[in-house]
Amino acid sequence: MSIEPRASTPGWHSTEAKAHLDDRATRALLVGPYLDESSMRRQDPDGSGARCTEPKRTRDARIAEAKGLAESIDLDVIATESVSVSRVRPATYLGKGKVTELARVVADGEIDLVVMDCSLSPVQQRNLERAFSAKVVDRTGLILEIFGRRARTKEGALQVELAHLAYQKSRLVRSWTHLERQRGGFGFLGGPGESQIETDRRLIAERMRSIEHELEKVKRTRGLHRKSRRVVPFPVVALVGYTNAGKSTLFNRLTQSNVVATDMLFATLDPTLRRVALPHGSDIILSDTVGFISALPTMLVSAFRATLEEVQEADVILHVRDLSHADMEAQRGDVESVLADLGIDPGEGRVIEVWNKADLVDEDCLAGAQTFARNKSDGGRPILVSALTGQGIDDLLSALEARLATGKIPFEIVLDPANGAGFSWLHANTEVMSKVTNPDGTVHMTVRVTPNRAETLRRRFLPSISDPCERDAYDRVL
Ligand code: GTP
Repeated sequence: MSIEPRASTPGWHSTEAKAHLDDRATRALLVGPYLDESSMRRQDPDGSGARCTEPKRTRDARIAEAKGLAESIDLDVIATESVSVSRVRPATYLGKGKVTELARVVADGEIDLVVMDCSLSPVQQRNLERAFSAKVVDRTGLILEIFGRRARTKEGALQVELAHLAYQKSRLVRSWTHLERQRGGFGFLGGPGESQIETDRRLIAERMRSIEHELEKVKRTRGLHRKSRRVVPFPVVALVGYTNAGKSTLFNRLTQSNVVATDMLFATLDPTLRRVALPHGSDIILSDTVGFISALPTMLVSAFRATLEEVQEADVILHVRDLSHADMEAQRGDVESVLADLGIDPGEGRVIEVWNKADLVDEDCLAGAQTFARNKSDGGRPILVSALTGQGIDDLLSALEARLATGKIPFEIVLDPANGAGFSWLHANTEVMSKVTNPDGTVHMTVRVTPNRAETLRRRFLPSISDPCERDAYDRVL
């Protein structure tokens, strides 16, 4: 483990230091306390993985991922250490010797914050803070912080704050809360004294009630928006994927719009909706969603359930994957398990895999991926693209069009030219493929609708449907 020399920043306990805290990044030590193989087997004796909560990725990749997360909120990760844990200690998670060793690292490196890439109980967190004389944050706390910084809509921000407060309430309160920030606190440092606990408990409860109230209002508005969108027939296509897979970049490529795309993890937190015209003229609503992540705390999945409703209701889900990432397979597992939590089966036919960053892989890897894709049946064929260069985007649009068309039901309808309401309804609610005026003045239209609209169309236009199966109903023109 290497520790970078510290710049001439004063110690964080001095008043002078606090004045500087806003100016410099917090110095952090990242600890990955990962259960060793044998203890994982003990937790999962039948090898089914059912009881094994450890993601199947290498330790190096897990540390690298956690480092990326920490750096995405501007923590200055001075050192990282992967610790093999054979048994979780109730008091400190890690064994005594390791805690003492890390305390020395914290002191020598003048570390402000220790990030533990695991889930700590409130007691473990407090004991470690005492042992290290530094703030300690676990994976949930870290992800909450990231979510809080990235939330781009009011609803997203409220949901994160609510999840954060619920998390804080259980562990009052020597870590960073919104309340501390409101009181002019110093981020991860300088939590309130024990005497504040009762006041904080009351303030937290009050704030939670007021957020719940606000969220209800926002949700009602959102529900109304969704309802009005349903009136418009455009199918919804949702982008999902592991954080940093390139969703925002692809979203921008497809919409030519300008959503934040940065190299920071979780740049995308709230769904962003745009209307996109496909090459053959039909329109879709494209929805960019939150970046998924391994071991996403359950409380966060539920906090974002409302936001992820866009995904649940989508007609097609584009699962964006980073072809160049060493952990591509593990990331797929993580994303699919979040989808499963949302009740979406990746094999159900509305999910298309988009293998992104094709420009970053070497020729052999690209050729292998192309062969794999060619050998897959239509339904499960991944589409290789580079959102950055535009390579493969045409294939993606064609695949999208084909997928959207498969679910649609075509209708032949003959209308009286004076039936203005009928024409308006068809234009607003269906995809009009052709429109021809017959010699007798009636208008013959070929339209396509999604299955959920087919029934309404049948009820409304049954007498004028010229579908061969319903030809006997074709004797009257509306
Ligand atoms: P979150 O918001 O964290 O979920 O990330 P995201 O999936 O929206 O990723 P984003 O689009 O922000 O891209 C992450 C990084 O990957 C950025 O630096 C992009 O420029 C880069 N990137 C995205 N697509 C490509 C690609 O096709 N090729 C290359 N070389 N880089 C890409």
